[in-house]
Amino acid sequence: MPIVPANDAEIARAASELTSGRLVAFPTETVYGLGADATNGRAVAQIFEAKGRPRFNPLIVHVADQAAAERIGQFTSRARRLAEAFWPGPLTLVLPRRSEAGISDLVTAGLDTIAVRVPSHPVARALLAAAGIPVAAPSANVSGHVSPTTAEHVDADLGDKVALILNAGPTEHGLESTIVDATGDRIVMLRPGAVIREAMEAVLGEPIGQESESAGSDETRMSGQPRSPGQLASHYAPRARVRLNATDLRPGEVLLAFGTPLPGAEGRSENLSPSGDLVEAAANLFACLRRLDATGAPTIAVMPIPETGLGEAINDRLRRAAAER
Ligand code: TXA
Ligand code: MG
Repeated sequence: MPIVPANDAEIARAASELTSGRLVAFPTETVYGLGADATNGRAVAQIFEAKGRPRFNPLIVHVADQAAAERIGQFTSRARRLAEAFWPGPLTLVLPRRSEAGISDLVTAGLDTIAVRVPSHPVARALLAAAGIPVAAPSANVSGHVSPTTAEHVDADLGDKVALILNAGPTEHGLESTIVDATGDRIVMLRPGAVIREAMEAVLGEPIGQESESAGSDETRMSGQPRSPGQLASHYAPRARVRLNATDLRPGEVLLAFGTPLPGAEGRSENLSPSGDLVEAAANLFACLRRLDATGAPTIAVMPIPETGLGEAINDRLRRAAAER
């Protein structure tokens, strides 16, 4: 069993596994990550292999601080304002990449941009400081499965593929980082997440654009690659069908409730937040989906969730889970 407690000795061991080119799973404030040395192409390739991930899907690079981020990406003044306000924390900035930084091409999947974040989880921070290298880390799940919010989730998906899993209990947000395109004059939302749109707009003093408004670099457009390829439909997919905005519960269905459950759901439901709290709902989302999926029911009916604040990110994930596949 590769799960170990995230104490100083195990963090030091994890750092040396990373610098030796092996994979390590570690907690962040969002979800658990599957980390590899971002400068080592063979190490990064193991991530794709372990996850069974489509090769065109680029990875987020995790670094210890702003100085390390500046070495791999170019910051506009808007990008720097967001970094100052939200780092360390669950925000990923897509920046023009610095080609001299030695990041493996596999990490960026051929794009001329790079996704960077400085996580706030103390274990992630200690690991990055000890390893002293940029760490490429997608969520530590098999491609297409829901993201892991506990070490046990990671073990179930990838236990035989990692050197070790640093266990620090359930993650705080339970929802991936917000990703914005910060390459241009206007910040554009690529993936809603734990940092909400309204908070970034307050810092910037201007609205944030939608992905459809983002022209993309010439290289990105000409290669026909989506701006944030992980945004492909059906990325977050339980086995069961997902029926959104359910106002009734049909025979054979299990219920993902939000607030007061629909009648008839006793014994076959999970509740994202009985009190209707979106932060609690985000933290519970993936674990609830996993438990409902494990019942073997053919369909998960999902009660309506407001589109405000974190609801935007929660609904985004649920729409992907419901997409035809
Ligand atoms: O919270 C998180 O962000 C977690 C933890 C581990 O940090 N990581 C995570 O990584 O969610 P992943 O690989 O599951 O999602 C990364 C997303 C993908 O949608 C990918 O397409 C996008 O980031 N991405 C990476 N590089 C990009 C780039 N240069 N331009 C646009 N999107 C990019
Ligand atoms: Mg993922």
